[in-house]
Amino acid sequence: MRRPVLAGNWKMHKTASDAAAFAASLPEDVRSERQVDAIIAPPATALDHLSRCFEGNAIRLAAQNMHWEAKGAFTGEISADMLKDLGVRYVIIGHSERREMFGETDASVNLKTKAAIAAGLIPIVCVGETLAQREAGQADAIVVRQTNLALQGVKPKEPAGLIIAYEPVWAIGTGKVCAADEADRIMGVIRDEVARSQGPAGADGTRILYGGSVKPDNMADLMRYPNIDGGLVGGASLDPDSFAALVRLSRPTPAK
Ligand code: 13P
Repeated sequence: MRRPVLAGNWKMHKTASDAAAFAASLPEDVRSERQVDAIIAPPATALDHLSRCFEGNAIRLAAQNMHWEAKGAFTGEISADMLKDLGVRYVIIGHSERREMFGETDASVNLKTKAAIAAGLIPIVCVGETLAQREAGQADAIVVRQTNLALQGVKPKEPAGLIIAYEPVWAIGTGKVCAADEADRIMGVIRDEVARSQGPAGADGTRILYGGSVKPDNMADLMRYPNIDGGLVGGASLDPDSFAALVRLSRPTPAK
């Protein structure tokens, strides 16, 4: 069985001090979580501080982005080694906000995914269609293409070393969650595409997360479905009690 993942993407929210206050009020059972990979992706400015706050705890850290080169004249960029040095284990790659607003392309997503794995980080690669693409009946083709291009030449040491997040753009921050059965269906399509590059065992072990208006009141329904291995959560991850509830709701149930 795949180990569930609950990742909070804080986007451009919280100073390092705000992040420390969040860490201090996170309930103990979640700080010492055993059944779920519980991850927070704060702004880069809070990574160092949060890494100290969570030392000895089960909570892991993700960056929201990285550069694919190891070092060099890339003003404003951060390398995988710089993240690892702060104790970061995961990195979100190709979030739709970066694709839409900051020129992220399928080619840069692929370079970053390969660089993250080479450096020993676990990439959380985001794919998902826009509303116009869904309405034009192109959702499946879009996510298949994004997954295919992201994974060109990608070889994690083990399937758990790669995470994909299906985030339909129309569901992000809108309160419109994708119906759980439809999310499961399209995530099955993504898993089939992962099988093409990683083989059946690789696809079977790859965690695929749903993202887009996940809240404590819709998480349990999503987690009932076989292709949904957890969530990538924006707004509802900013509050410690809500984040804790989401982690608890991601724990494996006998039914799954
Ligand atoms: P919301 O949960 O706020 O819709 O954001 C989803 C997201 O983009 C996570 O990466």
